[in-house]
Amino acid sequence: MTDALPEQEREIDSAKPKGGGRLALAFYRITYRHGRPRWDSSEPHRELVDLVAGRPSGRAVDLGCGTGADVLYLAQHGWDVVGVDFVPEAVETARKRAVDAELSPRFVLGDVTRLRQAGVEGPFDLIMDTGCYHGIAEGLRDAYAAEVTAVAAPGADFFVAGISDPPATWRLLGARGVSADDLLRHFGTDFDLTEERQTGARGRVAHFGLYHLVRRENTPSEVEASRSANSSRAKKGK
Ligand SMILES: C[S@@+](CC[C@H](N)C(=O)[O-])C[C@H]1O[C@@H](n2cnc3c(N)ncnc32)[C@H](O)[C@@H]1O
Repeated sequence: MTDALPEQEREIDSAKPKGGGRLALAFYRITYRHGRPRWDSSEPHRELVDLVAGRPSGRAVDLGCGTGADVLYLAQHGWDVVGVDFVPEAVETARKRAVDAELSPRFVLGDVTRLRQAGVEGPFDLIMDTGCYHGIAEGLRDAYAAEVTAVAAPGADFFVAGISDPPATWRLLGARGVSADDLLRHFGTDFDLTEERQTGARGRVAHFGLYHLVRRENTPSEVEASRSANSSRAKKGK
């Protein structure tokens, strides 16, 4: 059905989160509308700069890209990059910044738990999430993981940065934080966790963790999917 919608309507539709994500969207929209959010910056994250240095460019996606500083940095360094965020004001600012910088990355207004519905298809070599996943409600994390797995190229790097222990006010909005255990629970079937470190305090927030996961070449879920496809083909053939 959504395929029949004009591009703009499809964007708006696929940016509306389900269930637990609605409160989070309201929070982020209010925050972007009323001045500059505390996390916002026109500079890329230092960790991204270190990461990109000396690495060949490829296809990348930034999940919860905000106003796009990391996306623009990747585009400047030759990456074919897409930024996704569900707040129209953030995406609008990101698009303006791209025009000002004479760069042409793609910015998509969409919900990261429904990436493909928003027209964000892989395969991506690099998937970034700085401060988005830690706010995703528990009930939406399987959907997020399924989308990331679907758009990640075999061997893709997936970097997640976030806080482990959100304050009580964030928890009321559904935020559950991020930890190695949580990532292994949601991504462990298809990804290896190769690095975990603390990046130190940011603003008023302590315990900002950085996690590096790598998508396995032949993932167990793919093997399982192909096994069941073969078995249903065999049954039909009988
Ligand atoms: C803490 S901000 C970080 C923004 C940016 N990555 C940065 O470091 O400046 C989290 C971002 O994730 C976005 N976000 C949160 N949940 C999302 C969802 N389900 N779909 C799309 N974007 C989401 C928010 O709108 C916000 O821009």
